[in-house]
Order: sequence, then C-alpha cells, then structure tokens
Amino acid sequence: MSEAKPDTPNYPEQFAGIRRRIEGRLAEIAPAVTGSAPRLKQSIRYSLLDGGKRLRPLITVLTAEALGGKAADAVDAACAIEMVHTASLMIDDLPSMDNASQRRGKPANHIAHGEDIAILGGITLISDAFGLIVRDPHLPADVKVDLVDALSTAIGTEGLCAGQERDLREINDRADAEALAQLQYQKTGALFVLCVEAGARIAGLERDSLAPLRAFGTHAGLAFQILDDLLDAVGESSVTGKDTGADLGKQTYAAIMSLDEAEAKADQELTDALAALEPAGINQEPFAAFLNLVLQAYQGQVDPGHARQAGAVV
Ligand code: IPE
Ligand code: IPE
Ligand code: MG
Ligand code: MG
Ligand code: MG
Repeated sequence: MSEAKPDTPNYPEQFAGIRRRIEGRLAEIAPAVTGSAPRLKQSIRYSLLDGGKRLRPLITVLTAEALGGKAADAVDAACAIEMVHTASLMIDDLPSMDNASQRRGKPANHIAHGEDIAILGGITLISDAFGLIVRDPHLPADVKVDLVDALSTAIGTEGLCAGQERDLREINDRADAEALAQLQYQKTGALFVLCVEAGARIAGLERDSLAPLRAFGTHAGLAFQILDDLLDAVGESSVTGKDTGADLGKQTYAAIMSLDEAEAKADQELTDALAALEPAGINQEPFAAFLNLVLQAYQGQVDPGHARQAGAVV
C-alpha cells in the first residue's frame, strides 16, 4: 500500500477540534463513581474514557458539518455511537467471545473489573446511548426517532450482534466473497453507515437522500475491517494496543486471500467509498481526509515492509 497523501491543511485541525469536543462530552457523560454500584461505574469509565481512535464519532460530526449542520448538534449522537462501539469492544473481548486480554493499550475490561461487571458495563453503555439520544436537546423529535431506529438496527439481528454470531460461529467456514462482505457489513459496516446517516439527518438531509452516504459508510467500514484484520495478522500488540494473531480460523479477507490482495481490496473499497458520494454532488474533501486518517492509522501500525504496495486512493 503506498504512502497516504498529506491532508489539506485545515483537516487535522478540524479533526483535533472534533476529538476534543467528543472527549470533553464523554467525560461529562461517564458516570461519577459515587453512590451505589461503584464497580459498574468504574468499569464504564475505564473503557469509555481515554482510549480509542474515536473514528466513529469523528465521522459523525464531520458528516454533519460537511453537509451544513453544526458540530454542537451532532456531539451527543456521536458520543452515543461511541458508547455502543465501546460496549461492543467490552463484549467482544469476553472469554466467551474473542477471549482477549488487552484493549486500547490496557487490560481488557473483564480482566480489570471482572466478567460480571464488564457484561453489565456493556449493557449499561448501550442503554445509556439510547437515553442520550432521546434526551438530546439539540435535535427535533423526528430526527431522534430516526436515530434510535437506526441505532437499534445497527446493533441487532441484522447488525453488530448478527455479525458477532457469524464471526464466532462460522469458524473455518470458507464463505464466498459476497457472504464475507455481508458478515463484515453486519460486524462493522453497519455502525459506520449509522455514523454518516446520523450526521446527515442532523444536518437536515431527508431520509430518502441518504443512499450515497450509506454506500460511503458500507465501503469505508469494509475497508476499515479489512485493515483491522490485516493488523491482527501482521501487527504487534505493543503497537495496536490489543491482542493480535487472534483471528485464526475466522472469516476475514486476510484469511481468504494474500495480504497483498487484502490490502488492494481495502484500497479499492476506499476508492469506492469516495466515488459513492459523487452522484449526490457531496464535497468529497472532508470524507477523503477522513479515509486518509483511517489509512494513516493502519500504516502507522504496520511494519513498513507490509505496507509496501497498491495505490493509495485518498
Ligand atoms: C476496533 O475498532 C473494532 C473493529 C470493529 C475492528 P477501532 O479500531 O475503531 O477501535 P478503537 O475505538 O480505536 O479502540
Ligand atoms: C470486532 O471485531 C467487531 C465488533 C463488533 C466489536 P474484532 O474482533 O476484529 O475487533 P478487535 O480486533 O478485537 O478490535
Ligand atoms: Mg471479534
Ligand atoms: Mg476481537
Ligand atoms: Mg480485529
């Protein structure tokens, strides 16, 4: 994979500003460790604060801004998505799932706080995410209803949970490319789609104009998951901050094709993500800058020997 190109100068600044807002708001949202259930509150703070690339809230707020909305209106929805994502990681790491020991550079939540508390923490975060959207003072009721509906779909039997079942139970199956793309969509893509959908609705776009953004989210999510799978295969946990070499037997692009082919596939998905915005006349620049960030995050974590070919697209 070739070098990521430098961003247009103002995007790193805009991204840093969005991240600061997100971190600040998450710190307000995280429960204070007072009163009852201190372990549950500690466990939520442990996983939610001070960790993670915050890619999902970033693209949520960025999409809202790119489409003429205000960052302030998108921050709570973005935090709600990050809360669901964080919960999904706590659950994904459990002994009955990926049985991971590290997450975001520290012991996994169940190792630090116990499996019982980690499960409760995950459930609480998902529940609180819905509450945060419903109570959001910035958004009109119809947008909130759509966000709750879309979040529920992204988590449930056609989303994260479905993808997680298939990821865990279709071990050593050799799916065709279409089935694999669907699995990755459920596991990861659905939440990326939700991010851009949420940003667009918050900016005032109507439901029937979201298809190009959904296509962007699908391709971007797939590219992201392919790169994550490659990191599992070639990354070092001291760099990625999580267990590596854990996907043995799983259905990943890294398993069904060579690493070079998987990198090329990720590149193609990044190209397709941007191209999906074209028919809608959406300014591609901020989205290209975001994809560049995804690519840079990958390239920053792999041995340069592994990031050697294919045409970077953003
Ligand atoms: C990890 O996501 C889980 C996947 C869907 C691959 P991230 O790589 O975005 O994790 P954090 O939020 O930065 O820790
Ligand atoms: C996680 O996928 C997707 C979720 C729904 C949480 P992975 O199992 O590949 O994520 P990592 O590699 O542990 O972060
Ligand atoms: Mg997993
Ligand atoms: Mg995992
Ligand atoms: Mg992974």
